[in-house]
Amino acid sequence: MTKTIQANQFDDISFGALTGSLRDFKAKQGTDMLGRTDGFFHWQEERRRCDLWPYAKSTATAPRTHCAAKTDGGALMEGVNFASQDYLSLSSHPAIKEAATEAIKEYGVHSAGSAALLGNTRHSLLLEKRITEFLDGRETVLYPTGWSAGFAAIQGFVRPDDHVVMDVLAHSCLQEGARASTRNIHFHGHLNVRAMERRLQKIRANDTENGILLVTESLFSMHSDTPDIAAMRALCDEYNAVLLVDCAHDFGSMADDGRGHMSLQNVLHDVDIIIGSFSKTFASNGGFISVKDRATAEYLKYYSATQTFSNALSPVQAATVLAAFEIVDSAEGRDRRRKLMDNILYMRSEMGKVGLETLGDPSAIVPVRVGAEGLARIASRDLSNLGAIANLVEYPAVPQGGARFRVQVMSDHSHEDVDKLVVLMLQAMRSAEKEYLSLCDDHPSLMKNQRAAAQFADCVRDAA
Ligand SMILES: Cc1ncc(COP(=O)(O)O)c(C=O)c1O
Repeated sequence: MTKTIQANQFDDISFGALTGSLRDFKAKQGTDMLGRTDGFFHWQEERRRCDLWPYAKSTATAPRTHCAAKTDGGALMEGVNFASQDYLSLSSHPAIKEAATEAIKEYGVHSAGSAALLGNTRHSLLLEKRITEFLDGRETVLYPTGWSAGFAAIQGFVRPDDHVVMDVLAHSCLQEGARASTRNIHFHGHLNVRAMERRLQKIRANDTENGILLVTESLFSMHSDTPDIAAMRALCDEYNAVLLVDCAHDFGSMADDGRGHMSLQNVLHDVDIIIGSFSKTFASNGGFISVKDRATAEYLKYYSATQTFSNALSPVQAATVLAAFEIVDSAEGRDRRRKLMDNILYMRSEMGKVGLETLGDPSAIVPVRVGAEGLARIASRDLSNLGAIANLVEYPAVPQGGARFRVQVMSDHSHEDVDKLVVLMLQAMRSAEKEYLSLCDDHPSLMKNQRAAAQFADCVRDAA
């Protein structure tokens, strides 16, 4: 049963609400540091006025396959939920809730200290041990979030004269970690092994003294695609570089054994530094870094700022993740991953049948291409109004004109849930296309977005 959103109705969608991006307000100059934030708020408010601001929603019920949510303006929506990162549907699992409740009874709710001081608990120590076992004896260091683990893995090791070679689409935590550590950052084209090699060659031609860190993700979340990790290992060996892989999205949720692409590509022992997040599959905030030996792990504990100077995971978080690991590493976990992959493949196939274009490779993230930003904002509004929740991603998170829905699938979704999403998404895309193209007629400057819209229209028409 779905109820549609009670959104404000507006007669007029403004040009400003259909155009512009977060990037426009990033590099403003001037002495009035706080005053220069005004432009952003004005643009955001205009989008809100037109009901085209889909961000910062809150769940009004647990983030399960169906949920109620509110926009940041307070409008309520309810429907099928494809916007939560709870890939194995563990966030409301009875055994995990029980473990969390027990941890609260035992410890209260707070770790009350950094892990470098008195912040570890019985649960966090057990969790470290559990991850170490799961990753075949590699050493584990826990972090309060996945973001802080990604940042720390670079900031903890890289010094100003070192080099970081990274994918242009690397996650913000990796880019910020690199920026905090060195000016020698060398971006390469997405997944492009030849481009990586060119960067490494050039660096080593001029610098044989300093370290190089080659950085990637095992599953890029906006594109749902994957690098050739073995080829990257070979490059690291050739150019004396260290390999870092952030496996936030596939760890726990992919491969029969739950070890994600590291297992699918058989590279667990080829990666020097692995980063994981608990927030996608393990039902809690938190993250970890996994390295090959104790000395490296101990170094991180005192030289990576977000470990040493940030409060440790709370006992309830650690107990939650520990209980989630028990399931991930069990027959139930395997079944949940199979069910998840069945849903993913079914969704990709059903979307294809009606002409919705899915991007990348099968994973719990199914990016669905929309195109022009203005068109996508209208489609996102219409989708919510129809009773389906899916996140919109637009420039600069993805290339300009490449706006998309980032659909997130869970193992508890049914084929009926998927059918519902496909029907509603197609309906939303069609109504949005009609409205957007007519707005383009009224606003000639929107025309430059029209190419992407027209391409989208073609792809819907061709297959529908
Ligand atoms: C590749 C990658 N690394 C790190 C993170 C941050 O993880 P967390 O949300 O657990 O802080 C994300 C989150 O989206 C991610 O996609």
